[in-house]
Amino acid sequence: MSPHATAQHFELIDLHPAPTDVSKAVIDGLNRSPKQLPAWLLYDRQGSALFDAICEQPEYTLTRLEKDLLGTQAQAIAEALPTGCLVVEFGAGSAEKVSPLLDAMHEPSYLAIDISAEHLQEAGTRLQERHPSIPMLGICADYSQPLDLPLPKAWQSKPMVGFFPGSSLGNFEPDAAINFLQRIRQLLGEKAQLLIGIDQPREPSLLEAAYDDNAGVSAAFAKNLLRRLQRDLAIELDPEPFTYQAAWQPEHQRIAMALVANTPQTWTIGASRIPFAAGEALMTEYSYKYAPIDFLDLAAQAGWQGSQRWCDADDHFSLHLLTQGDDARMNA
Ligand code: AVI
Repeated sequence: MSPHATAQHFELIDLHPAPTDVSKAVIDGLNRSPKQLPAWLLYDRQGSALFDAICEQPEYTLTRLEKDLLGTQAQAIAEALPTGCLVVEFGAGSAEKVSPLLDAMHEPSYLAIDISAEHLQEAGTRLQERHPSIPMLGICADYSQPLDLPLPKAWQSKPMVGFFPGSSLGNFEPDAAINFLQRIRQLLGEKAQLLIGIDQPREPSLLEAAYDDNAGVSAAFAKNLLRRLQRDLAIELDPEPFTYQAAWQPEHQRIAMALVANTPQTWTIGASRIPFAAGEALMTEYSYKYAPIDFLDLAAQAGWQGSQRWCDADDHFSLHLLTQGDDARMNA
């Protein structure tokens, strides 16, 4: 494994969870009350493509706000980062957001982590073609779990910048979000910084529409999870009698997404039988929203301090730059 200074080829290391781990995650989730599956299961090849389509929907403004911010503020962000640093992106998806940043930075290298191997290979190849002289590497892994980074030797002494866009932290419940932020602080090292995109609470009707768009792409994204379980784990189930719902829960400051069984039914997984009552929900995802002050409070519990913040004109979405130094300035 050696990223090349003039790479033609985007190299990928595959650390995807084994099928037995996937099956265990599903059975554990179906035995919870309410039933809840880990969000990373949504992102098989088809799920990743559907998520990209969600990002294009008029109701889902998050991605456009963040891309605009990254485009207009790339220079200011790059000025806050050291020369020659390694950008580590968690959940790279289509790996488009990092591009203006890589253009503005001095001698960066780039490591992309994502759960969908095919999607990452395609996205990384496109990005590498766009930035042929930047050394790059991909790792297919579940970044929500403890992870060792198999870094090439030449990269091991580089200053690191974590990049966690898309408000994906909102898909963790708060305690898990703190654990995750702590883990990446340890993973990236003491001097690392973290650039993180965070979506903020706003009018509930706007948020509910963002997660249940008119074209039905959000519903198709959630239902694809059932097709994936049928296909990859040979679970006997019927995806049809499930209805997708997305609701703002103000007491938690989150959108709760669920597939609700319209009729009683039973899923068969090997020797196990999992009953669903009529009206019972299978939670597919939560999406927490954080006002800047609340996000900085959460980050502080994981040892990160706010250094700079950039936001859109309506202050709906923020890019926070976090540091671990004593001299970090709070600027919410
Ligand atoms: C990836 N993540 C930040 C999305 C969100 O907004 O919570 C996932 C999503 N699920 C349905 N729509 C978007």
